[in-house]
Amino acid sequence: MAKQFDVVVIGGGPGGYIAAIRASQLGFTAACIDEWKNAKGGPALGGTCTNIGCIPSKALLQSSENFEHAGKHFADHGIKVSGLSIDVAKMLARKDQVVEQNNKGIEFLFKKNKVSFFHGRGSFVKAEGGLYEIKAGEETISAKHVIVATGSNARPLPGAPFDEENILSNDGALRIQGVPKKLGLIGSGVIGLEMGSVWRRLGAEVTVLEALPTFLGTVDEQIAKEAKKAFDKQGLKIELGVKVGEVKSSKAGLSVEYTNAKGEPQKLDVDKLIVSIGRVANTIGLNPEAVGLKLDERGAVIVDDECRTNLPNVWAIGDVVRGPMLAHKAEEEGVAVAERIAGQHGHVNFNTIPWVIYTSPEIAWVGQTEQQLKAAGVAYKAGTFPFMANGRARALGDTTGMVKFLADAKSDEILGVHIVGPMASELISEAVVAMEFRASAEDIARICHAHPSLSEATKEAALAVDKRTLNF
Ligand code: FAD
Ligand code: NAI
Repeated sequence: MAKQFDVVVIGGGPGGYIAAIRASQLGFTAACIDEWKNAKGGPALGGTCTNIGCIPSKALLQSSENFEHAGKHFADHGIKVSGLSIDVAKMLARKDQVVEQNNKGIEFLFKKNKVSFFHGRGSFVKAEGGLYEIKAGEETISAKHVIVATGSNARPLPGAPFDEENILSNDGALRIQGVPKKLGLIGSGVIGLEMGSVWRRLGAEVTVLEALPTFLGTVDEQIAKEAKKAFDKQGLKIELGVKVGEVKSSKAGLSVEYTNAKGEPQKLDVDKLIVSIGRVANTIGLNPEAVGLKLDERGAVIVDDECRTNLPNVWAIGDVVRGPMLAHKAEEEGVAVAERIAGQHGHVNFNTIPWVIYTSPEIAWVGQTEQQLKAAGVAYKAGTFPFMANGRARALGDTTGMVKFLADAKSDEILGVHIVGPMASELISEAVVAMEFRASAEDIARICHAHPSLSEATKEAALAVDKRTLNF
C-alpha cells in the first residue's frame, strides 16, 4: 500500500520546503518531492532560488563587488593594490560552495522537522477516496493535501532557444567560465541588471537591450531615474525601446539584430548573450490532467486569493501561481497554506511584499509608487533624504541615492517607501514592518535611530514628508 501523508509538497524551492516544514511543525505528516540534481546526481534542495537564482547570483554579486572595490575604491582609503586580477574559476567554485551549503542546510532542516524527502519527479496519478495518489520518483505515495510548488523557468526569446553556451538563461549566466569581452543582455529587468552588473564589474563590455521605452517601469520614477544615472556612470550600456530581431549564433560569433528607439536597424556583436525577459510557470511533468488541475493560458496553476486550486485539498504557491515571482512571496504563501490546512487563518499581505534589486546602488521598495498614487488619484505627501547628507554613507564612501517616503496627505499613513543606495536591501525591512503595522510617517520620524547609521536616512525621509529634515 502507498505510504500515506497528511501533506505532500511537490517542489522543494523556497515555497515548497518552507510549506513542508511548517506543515510538520503543525503536527501533520509531511513529505516533499523535489527533482533537482546536483553535479553528482544527488539532491539539491532549494529550487531555482538556491541553485540558479537568489543565492548564486548574490554570491557572484558579492565577489564582483569586492573586485570592483579593490580596483576602484580601496585607493581612496590609502590601500594600495597592485596586480589585481580575477580568478573566475575560483569565484565560481566559491559560488558553488555557497549553493551546496544551502542545499545541505535544507536537508538538515527536513531531518530536524521530520519532513520525509523524496528525490525525483512528483506527478499526479489519480484522486480516489479523498486521497491523491502521487508518483514520487520511483515510489508512489498518497496525500490528503497536496501543495504544488513547482516554480518557474526562464522564458526564451522566440527563435533563439537557450543553448547555455552562447545564448544563456539565468542558469548559464551563473556559469560563464571567463570574463566575456562583450556581453549582451536582452531585458533590463531584475536579472538583466544584476547579471549585467556582475560581468561589467569584472571587465566585460555590457550592453542591455530593453523593449520598453522606460527604464524599470514598475519602480518609482524618481528612484529609477537616480539608478539609471548611476548605471550610466558605471558604463552599463542600456538601450531602451528596442525591438529585438534575429539572433545569429555560430562558431564565428554571436550577433543580435534589432531596431533602436528611432526605428533604425542595428547589430550587436557579443561573445555571450543572456536572455532575461521574464519567467514562465513550470508544470512540466506534474501531470495535472490526471486529476483535472486547472491551469491558465500561460500554464500557471489557477488559484484564489488563498492559494486554493479548483480541486479540493490541492493548493499551489510561489512562482507557479499569480503574483510576484519572489522567493519570500513563495515562502509566505507556503506558511499561510500550511496554516490554512490546519484550520488557522494564514495570511499574506500583498501590499507589503518588498522588492530588492541587488545592484550597486541597491534598489528596494515596498508599497505604492508615486506614479501609482497619482494614477489612483490618492492625495499624498512625499519626502526624500539623500545619502549624500548621511554621515555613515560618507564614511562608507557610498553616497549615491536616497530614501523616499510616500504618505497619505490626510492620515499620514505610509503608502510606499523607495530606496536607491547602499544596503537598501536591509533598510527596506523597517519600512515593511512600519507598513505592516500601518504606521504613519510621523511614527518613524519619532523613533530613535542609531547614529551613525544608514537607517537615519529613513528617519530623515520620514521627517521630510512634513518638510522638517534635521540634517538636510
Ligand atoms: P522554485 O524555486 O523554482 O522551486 C521549484 C522546485 O520544484 C525546483 O526545485 C524544481 O526542480 C522542483 N520541481 C518542479 N517540478 C517538479 C516535479 N514535477 N516534481 C518534483 N520536483 C519538481 N527572488 C527573490 O526573492 N530574491 C532574489 O534575490 C532572487 N534572485 C533571483 C535570481 C535569479 C537569477 C532568478 C532566476 C530568480 C531569482 N529570484 C529571486 C526569484 C526566486 O528564485 C523565485 O521566486 C523562487 O525560487 C520561487 O520559489 P518556488 O518555490 O515557487 O519555486
Ligand atoms: P523581469 O520581468 O524582471 O524583466 C524582464 C525585462 O525584459 C522587462 O523589462 C521586459 O520589458 C523586458 N523584455 C521582455 N521581452 C523583451 C524582448 N523581447 N526584448 C527586450 N526586452 C524584453 O524578468 P527577469 O529579469 O527575467 O527576472 C525574472 C523574475 O525573476 C523577476 O521578475 C523576479 O520576479 C525574479 N528575480 C528576482 C530577483 C530579486 O528579487 N532580486 C533577482 C532576479 C530575478
